[in-house]
This record gives sequence, C-alpha cells and structure tokens, in this order.
Amino acid sequence: MTRPARTQVAIIGSGPAGLLLGRLLTQAGIDNIILERRSKDHVLSRIRAGVLEEGSARILEDAGVGGRMREEGLVHHGIDIAFGGGRHRIDLSGPTGGKGVIIYGQTEVTQDLMDRREADDAPTFYEAEDVAISGFDRHMPETRFIHEGRAHTLLCDFIAGCDGFHGVCRPSVPQGALDIAERVYPAGWLGLLCETPPVSGELIYVRHGRGFALCSMRSPTRSRYYLQCAAGEDATAWSDERFWEELKRRLDPETAAALVTGPSIEKSVAPLRSFVAEPMRFGRLFLAGDAAHIVPPTGAKGLNLAIGDVHYLAEALIEYYQERSQRGLEAYSERALARIWQAERFSWWMTSLLHSFADTGRFAQKLQDAELAYLADSRAAQAALAENYVGLPL
Ligand code: APR
Ligand code: PHB
Repeated sequence: MTRPARTQVAIIGSGPAGLLLGRLLTQAGIDNIILERRSKDHVLSRIRAGVLEEGSARILEDAGVGGRMREEGLVHHGIDIAFGGGRHRIDLSGPTGGKGVIIYGQTEVTQDLMDRREADDAPTFYEAEDVAISGFDRHMPETRFIHEGRAHTLLCDFIAGCDGFHGVCRPSVPQGALDIAERVYPAGWLGLLCETPPVSGELIYVRHGRGFALCSMRSPTRSRYYLQCAAGEDATAWSDERFWEELKRRLDPETAAALVTGPSIEKSVAPLRSFVAEPMRFGRLFLAGDAAHIVPPTGAKGLNLAIGDVHYLAEALIEYYQERSQRGLEAYSERALARIWQAERFSWWMTSLLHSFADTGRFAQKLQDAELAYLADSRAAQAALAENYVGLPL
C-alpha cells in the first residue's frame, strides 16, 4: 500500500460534472483529484444529448472551455412540435428576451474539459478500480482505489460524488438517509447518429400514434435521430433500414420526403426515467449531476442540470476555502434541488405530452390532444414551454 496521498477535494467521476467541478476548483487554486473507473476513450465514446442552455454556456465560458463551443455550436431560437400531420414552431427567443439554446454535443463538452484539465496538469486517475469512499459522515473523508494493480488511499477534506446514476457514492450513503422519488416510463429512446445533413434547421419533437420521434443534430453535416421504443429494446435488432423506415412513418409527408438517410455511426437505447435522491449532501460528501438525479431526455435537461449543480457546489467550496464559511455548503442541497425539481417537472411534462405509452389509455390520449391544441394556439402556453426549455435562472 502506498503512503496515503492527500488532496482538498476528491472527485469521483470524469463525466461533465466531475470534469467541470475539477476545472472550477483548479481555477480557484483548490487541489482536487478525479478518480474515474473507465478509460478516457470510453468516457468520450458515450453519445449523449446535445442542447446547452445559455446559462450553461456562460458557466463553460467562465471556466475557460467555451471557445470551441462558441465556434462550432449552433445557436437555435426555436423548436418544432409536430402532431396531427403538421409542424408548429415554438419561438424560444421572443418570450424570453432573446434567449436561445446552443446545439453542441456532450461529447464535445467532455473533450473540451478533458483538454483543459490536461493543460492545467491536474491529476486524474483513469481506470481506477474498486473505488470506495468512507469517513464522510465524520471529519475524515477518504477514498480507496486500485490503479495499475496498486492500492491507494486518498485523504481529503470533501468528496464530490460526480459518478453518475450507477456510481458508488449515492449507494455509500447510510440506508434510510436518502429520500428517493422515481418514475420509470414504459419506453426507451433508440438513438441513431449519422453523417447526413439534418432534416430541418431546428429540432423537431414528434408526437405520433406509433410513438415519439425526435430530429436533432450535432452539426450542419451530422444528425441525431431518436425513436420511442420498448423499454429494454435491443439496438442491434434495428437495422439502419428499419430505423429509417420507422422514422419516416412518424414524420409528416413533407419532412419524410426531405429526410436524408445514411449509414449509422452509432445506435443505442436509453431508458426513460425520472429520479431524484434527497438530500444531496451527507457530511463531507456532496452529490452532483446524474449521481443525484435523472430526467427523461425529452426536455434536454440532464447535462444542464449537472452543470448547474456543479456551479452551485464550486461556489460553496470556494467560499469555504477562501472565507472559511460553511454557508454555501449548508445551502447547496436545497438550492440545487429547487432548480432540479423545476427541470424534473418540465421533463416529465414534455415526456407525457409527446409519448404514446401502452397504459396511456383513451382519456390520457384525449388530454394529450387537448394540451397540444392549446399549445399550438396559446402564446402563453408557448411562452411557458420556451422559458423552461431555454433554462430557468441559475
Ligand atoms: N468510480 C469512479 N468513477 C465512476 C464510478 C466509480 N465507482 N461509477 C461511475 N463512474 C464514472 C462513469 O464512468 C462516468 O464517467 O462517473 C462518470 C459519471 O458521468 P455521467 O454519467 O456522464 O454523469 P454526469 O457527469 O453527472 O453528467 C450527466 O451525462 O449521462 C449523461 O444524461 C446525462 O447529460 C447527463 C450527463
Ligand atoms: C440530442 O440532440 O441528443 C437531443 C436533443 C434534444 C433532446 C434530447 C436529445 O431533448
């Protein structure tokens, strides 16, 4: 066993939450070490969402990792909601004083943060095995792990659980100390990435009797499409041809005719789940991002919530080290959860509005029809969607 090493903040997880927290702490002169169980390439291989709120973009810019995002990101000022054979544009900017969203893949955000961490020469242990955390309920937090066959112990002041939904931190919290609120939807999203020009200049969210569909993008030459599928669907059961035929059946004829198909670069199925673990702090352990909450991707909130949590947590940790104040640390969980629940509500609403679930039933389908008709005609309803989609204030 090597001699225990020491740092101020041990960060578990090198996804967007862990990497951004590491950058904000390094920027403030606070020592931190990231422990990541997978390889760098594996982390970068995961295809996730691609919509950044303006607030998230500003946080990334202030962290010094917004350059490529500003150069390559696509600024969007509206989205389309398609139903009943037509498309209805929702103006995002008009009702929100000019706000929009930036289309920029999570993979790119992660790459930019990794590049920055390398430039900062800040330590990350990739392929760290058997990561375990303890002592966070007292004043002696520590993490233990195996790296390249050698056992390590890392002493720290705080542990940041940025290890996602399947991580080790949330389960390390004493039984019964967590309040879990969860809804698992009876469907999944089958996603396909391809080098083809997007079918439309803005995103199209489709409600159709055969199931939800989404037409998105990563660049003017790279598109991302989704089909609602059965929960636990096997992506390999879907040939490219089957995917394109099903997507065309869910699109209106004009959009289907404009669709440019091509070979898939990636195909995967994501589950639909709403999940919140409260509180997000246990002594000297703080949870951030997917480690604490999950939203169905319909509202494009997962990455933005992770960035918002980290913004609050970094502020609190910097205040602690610079002013020896616990105020921000004590307020972190409540402050983050207030914003998380607004995003949970919006993501649940968008998901319920646009998906056809087996147990939906006729009454719920008629409610969907009524809600969509109201959304198409009411500027107030459109404004409510717009202000949630572009992101509520941090
Ligand atoms: N030890 C170390 N690292 C771990 C462990 C562990 N026991 N368990 C998980 N990890 C790592 C994962 O390999 C992953 O790289 O923690 C990281 C968590 O990253 P994410 O799951 O991306 O979560 P987060 O950083 O909160 O970002 C949330 O990512 O999954 C998307 O939709 C989600 O957009 C949202 C964003
Ligand atoms: C994506 O481009 O991956 C994406 C966009 C919007 C969503 C979900 C996913 O709501």
